[in-house]
Amino acid sequence: MSKMNTVRGFQVKPQIWYGIGSLKKLADFDYQKVCIVTDKDMVKFGLLDMVTDILDKAGVTYHIFDDVKPNPTSDIVEKGVAHMLTQRPQALIALGGGSSIDTAKGIIYYTNNFKRIFLDPQVVTNPHFIAIPTTAGTGSEVTDYAVITDVDTGTKIPLSESMMMPDTAILAPTLIESVPAGATAATGMDVLTHAIESYVSTGNNPFSRCYASKATELVFKSLKACYDDGHDLESKASMQIASTMAGIAFNSAGLGMAHAIAHTIGAQYHMPHGLACAIALPYVISYNGIDARAEHLYERLLHAIGVHKDEGRTASATFVRMIVKLMKSMNLPICLDESRSDTSDYDEVRPTLIKKAMADATLKTNPVQPSEDDMGKILDLVCHGVF
Ligand SMILES: NC(=O)c1ccc[n+]([C@@H]2O[C@H](COP(=O)([O-])OP(=O)(O)OC[C@H]3O[C@@H](n4cnc5c(N)ncnc54)[C@H](O)[C@@H]3O)[C@@H](O)[C@H]2O)c1
Ligand SMILES: [Zn+2]
Repeated sequence: MSKMNTVRGFQVKPQIWYGIGSLKKLADFDYQKVCIVTDKDMVKFGLLDMVTDILDKAGVTYHIFDDVKPNPTSDIVEKGVAHMLTQRPQALIALGGGSSIDTAKGIIYYTNNFKRIFLDPQVVTNPHFIAIPTTAGTGSEVTDYAVITDVDTGTKIPLSESMMMPDTAILAPTLIESVPAGATAATGMDVLTHAIESYVSTGNNPFSRCYASKATELVFKSLKACYDDGHDLESKASMQIASTMAGIAFNSAGLGMAHAIAHTIGAQYHMPHGLACAIALPYVISYNGIDARAEHLYERLLHAIGVHKDEGRTASATFVRMIVKLMKSMNLPICLDESRSDTSDYDEVRPTLIKKAMADATLKTNPVQPSEDDMGKILDLVCHGVF
């Protein structure tokens, strides 16, 4: 059957404000009472003040829930739910990286389900949800997806529900000025992984490919400049847009094996999400390149970003070369052994890592479905490296 006969959907949400000064848009919302979900670093770096100064001037009252921790856990979400039920704000502002935005999503999800149990579902409403990312990485401000870790079992619970999609996203470059260079590199590689994986995913479509290719182009243009100079606001603004575009792309098309591996090694070795993605990405592209359809998509993406294939190399091999060069230029490790992780238990945990990576939901849309044996070999490369 022709693709034209298949009904498919593509959602465009939220309202996005971007550019220097975009934070002032917060004053335009006609709310009396809001809740800010954030972490203690936002207080330390003065980012929370940037938000509360605007709310103070606009006469909006607010309360702050600043218990967020990296890789959010269910106990923090539960505390946030109690906060929401007692304070009943009209709007919820998530200020921070993916961890703050995902925590806010978890709070909305569980508060809504709690209300549904005790109230007539007809009268259940959600607060207006404003996401203000302070990293250029996850794209969580434009996805209806969040990962919350069960604090008792350590299991990652992927949540996906339209109610968790922010209503408004504000991309203010000044908010990401304070991100340290290493975190800029890692979160930026998360953007690149979202963009490339969604472009070649089995769920790719004309809309997602458009956002994914522009995001890929912007990362190669701007990430190194952001790493070199944290105050280069033009490059930072460009990375923020790339991050959001890559989020729009993968929210529709899905991700792939680099994320399946990143979730697995990230949990095992307590690594930042972006760094785990960066380490996995070149090995996964190398593996996917054996598939003719995937190779064709890498070639189309290369063409879309205006880069010629390296002489004597395939498109996937060209991407691997470009990515490894970018990573090395930002002093990122290219395998686990080179990172700060203690991999002395690798051989022992290898069978578990294989099982977890094979079971990860993001693997479903990878262009090639690996066997357990293939996954083991890719994980060995991720651990010990070849580039
Ligand atoms: N929902 C999604 O679509 C999606 C997609 C990818 C990743 N994620 C999730 O996002 C989380 C990772 O998010 P992240 O990479 O943005 O990091 P993060 O939110 O975990 O933040 C990492 C650290 O950087 C600090 N930080 C953030 N912004 C800063 C700034 N401007 N200046 C100084 N320090 C700052 C934070 O306080 C924190 O200590 C993971 O839990 C991951 O699973 C979600
Ligand atoms: Zn990611």
